[in-house]
Amino acid sequence: MHKTVKDIVEMKDKQKISVVTSYDYTLATLCDNAGIDVLLVGDSAGMVMLGYENTIPVTMDQMSLFTSAVSSARKNALIVADLPFMSYQTNVTDAITNSGKLIKAGADAVKLEGGTEMADTISALVEIGIPVMGHIGLQPQTTMLTEGYKVQGRTKEAAMRLIQDAKALEEAGVFCIVFEMVSHQVAKLITESVKVPTIGIGSGVDCDGQVLVIQDMLGMYEKINPKFVKKYLNLSQDIVSAVKNYKQDIETKQFPAKENMFSMDEAELEKLKKEIEE
Ligand code: KIV
Repeated sequence: MHKTVKDIVEMKDKQKISVVTSYDYTLATLCDNAGIDVLLVGDSAGMVMLGYENTIPVTMDQMSLFTSAVSSARKNALIVADLPFMSYQTNVTDAITNSGKLIKAGADAVKLEGGTEMADTISALVEIGIPVMGHIGLQPQTTMLTEGYKVQGRTKEAAMRLIQDAKALEEAGVFCIVFEMVSHQVAKLITESVKVPTIGIGSGVDCDGQVLVIQDMLGMYEKINPKFVKKYLNLSQDIVSAVKNYKQDIETKQFPAKENMFSMDEAELEKLKKEIEE
């Protein structure tokens, strides 16, 4: 049996929660085998899988496809899928309909961006049994339209708003809250004052867990290079060099080698040649 929302909630104050984004079967299988607690089908897929400038163009059909690929791979982790821009902000009915689509595609829970203003939507989803992960601090679906990527919660007023947002999300029934690019002091304060686990990205070590975009931590996505990312591999270099070697092997007939080929019986070959000659 895979991890449940209850398992993740119970990890608070006991064990740090590991989260990584996943969008495809192959990488999701590897992350799940590695024992990651939560596979997040983030709308960052729009950037790292589809090459968009930001997450705004991502559609429900795309998120459903990514979710279903991750769901085919998962054995142990909890799967959370992002509701994309304008799939839930319009009204509660849209939020329920679109969350239902992600759950049917294989997600165990959905994530949506927003604070106090999203409380009613979250309550409606939780009431009908759809677990919700909140997301405050930098909210790429909306802050990209106004101020771009900026650290959140650096002034007393901004920090107070974040604290109020976190409390509103908790009251609305989220099982977990993501903080994106929140100053580490504020992330710590909120983590200590809510009962649900907090998951940080660029928000310091005191959150209950951490999330990174898989392409960032594997060093595969070079368009942006945020300070909060730790690169555990430098795969883009390795991949380019492997593909260059492949190209060279083809050109110099080093590939395919004998062990990569299939052969026919020599006697049969001789008979064939003879028949062709005749
Ligand atoms: O879409 C995403 O990858 C996310 C994480 C940055 C938390 O929302």
